[in-house]
Amino acid sequence: MISFKAPSNIALVKYWGKKGEQLPANPSVSFTLTHCYTETSVAYQQRSSLAIPPTEKFSFTFNFEGEAKPSFHPKINTFFQRILPYLPFLTDYHFTINSHNSFPHSSGIASSASAMAALSLCLMQVAQELGMNFTQDQFWQQASLLARLGSGSACRSTHGSIVVWGQHASIPHSTDQYGIPYPLPVHPIFDQYQDTILLIDKGQKQVSSTLGHNLMHGHPFAQARFAQAHQNTDKLIQCFATGDLETFIQVVESEALTLHAMMQTSIPYFILMRPNTLEVIQHVWQYRKSTSIPLCFTLDAGANVHLLYPKKYKEEVQKYIQDVLAPYCEGKHYIHDCLNTNP
Ligand code: PMV
Repeated sequence: MISFKAPSNIALVKYWGKKGEQLPANPSVSFTLTHCYTETSVAYQQRSSLAIPPTEKFSFTFNFEGEAKPSFHPKINTFFQRILPYLPFLTDYHFTINSHNSFPHSSGIASSASAMAALSLCLMQVAQELGMNFTQDQFWQQASLLARLGSGSACRSTHGSIVVWGQHASIPHSTDQYGIPYPLPVHPIFDQYQDTILLIDKGQKQVSSTLGHNLMHGHPFAQARFAQAHQNTDKLIQCFATGDLETFIQVVESEALTLHAMMQTSIPYFILMRPNTLEVIQHVWQYRKSTSIPLCFTLDAGANVHLLYPKKYKEEVQKYIQDVLAPYCEGKHYIHDCLNTNP
């Protein structure tokens, strides 16, 4: 049996808008997390040895947290269909897939990135066992490419600490096809950079990613937004090299607010923040001003808030979160995580 863990990731420069077959409209950069991950195992048997109706193109069973989950089947079927050109053996075997998350499923944390990344890594390992040959680089690149076909941002969860996905002029080997480990210098202030996820709203996503990305087609600000992502990536490159946290904070918070601004200015429009999201943002700004501690926030396509801060401020920031910010979280729940500096 084959098994892989794949972490969740949080984007600093956001992917929002796509073209072609799950290709990004702009480059994105993310931190790979440490404690939030999906672990998936895959066992496989030749279909000819089983009594399986030949009408089904793919044959698999899927268990999540130990329970059969037929509701996930359509997503996996679509995924298998998309990756079949790369893994032609998929129609010849029956796959038993078991998956679990390290974080609660109903936390509002998107698990599609870690889930698709873990499954892609398992299937690449199956490919290798069945005799497909890959160099190590090819293995990681194709695993990320397959994950991308499952869920765009999943391609940033297969390998690496800081990951870049999408072609960018200043980042060698960056490509729209798969995520690459960030290849340029990174200042030690970013070692195990902290990410505390405040669970403001544990509900289901209001807007599916597919719908969300499609809102960028014909969006009046789309071209300016895509250009801005390139510029912000250039700024981040400087921040990573020098440890300039002032600019880092400006880029990261602006990216989060721009992502939400894009949703608020599309047709149809959505507000995905909740009142407590805004309360927390106000508190973060006040706290930063009064303490000079470089605490900042980012958001994904929902109400939860990711708080980012250097490891050296861990103690005081975490006390502040517990004392002041926890009441804004649903059930006072939050998760401490950090950048996986040595994946
Ligand atoms: O991978 P998707 O299709 O679920 O899109 C994720 C988009 C954001 O999380 C909002 C931004 C990002 O870059 O992760």
